[in-house]
Amino acid sequence: MIRPWLGLALGLAASLVACFVAGAYFQHRHATRRLQQLVQQDPYAYYISPKIFNAFCFFAEQNGEVHRVRRIMKYGFPGLDDVRIYSDFVLSYDRRNRVAHWVCEHLQQSNLLRQPGVGRASATYRPDLSVPSTFRAALADYRHSGFDRGHLAAAGNHCSHQLHCNETFFLTNIAPQIGQGFNSGAWNKLETYVRHLTQRFGSVYVCTGPLYKPRQQSANKWSLEYQMIGSNMVAVPTHYFKVITIESKLPLGKPYMEAYVLPNSPIPQKLTLRDFLCDIREIEHYAGLQFFDGLRRSAIFGSNFPSESQVFRDFL
Ligand SMILES: *[C@@H]1O[C@H](CO)[C@@H](O)[C@H](O)[C@H]1NC(C)=O
Repeated sequence: MIRPWLGLALGLAASLVACFVAGAYFQHRHATRRLQQLVQQDPYAYYISPKIFNAFCFFAEQNGEVHRVRRIMKYGFPGLDDVRIYSDFVLSYDRRNRVAHWVCEHLQQSNLLRQPGVGRASATYRPDLSVPSTFRAALADYRHSGFDRGHLAAAGNHCSHQLHCNETFFLTNIAPQIGQGFNSGAWNKLETYVRHLTQRFGSVYVCTGPLYKPRQQSANKWSLEYQMIGSNMVAVPTHYFKVITIESKLPLGKPYMEAYVLPNSPIPQKLTLRDFLCDIREIEHYAGLQFFDGLRRSAIFGSNFPSESQVFRDFL
């Protein structure tokens, strides 16, 4: 089944490029539509979409959607499982756990400019009905669970349009978090840090997601234990991660990347965010994701700064 589609899609991608070179305007509008139809009709076309993504970019001006996804996903897709596109973020949904695998955002100062009347007060938590009901989390799952409905893409990152803010309240972007000492503590500090970076540097890419970390039982054995809530059995992640990429303001400046892993538990106030810095490979190992398309990171990123204040002071 896969091969004919693969050939067809790659052929289509090649013809898209040819059309562009020929400058045949109507033809390539037609081709864009065909490509979209192909992706809608056939799930296999979706899985090879990174391969035909470069063809997409030729049509950026004619297709706001493609343009936006390309911008948010500039550093690559960490995974391709059930990818869902919202107006200001992109996520991959984990149907088994009823919690996203990852949520990617591209933050600029304009995202943080709060428009009058826009905010979380006018948004409501709700299930995303486009997820099949068998795999969908419901509001009832969180009720009396003892866990907060924690945002992966933070609502405060999307307050320039009410629609963007509303969409962060879809349960696909929500995961069970310990409230006291986590959601309202260290996790909130991390989200605030990301917004400060955005204010300071102007272009920040954030990828957020859950981790389910096993414990070692013996020399070569591990076991994984995590809670689930509600009749839909929404998984309670043991940890959460954020991978943060800050773009340099210099024309040829390298971006700077940091990754954090925080346990989903009350975190003592005396600990700083730096205590939770983590090697991105550890996140990849536990989450089964791959960031930055597996590029050699030392080649594309600047060096590690030992403190947050030094990031603000020394990164350009
Ligand atoms: C946002 O959500 C609220 C409450 O669900 C709704 O009344 C409002 O129309 C939504 N706004 C937009 C722009 O979608």
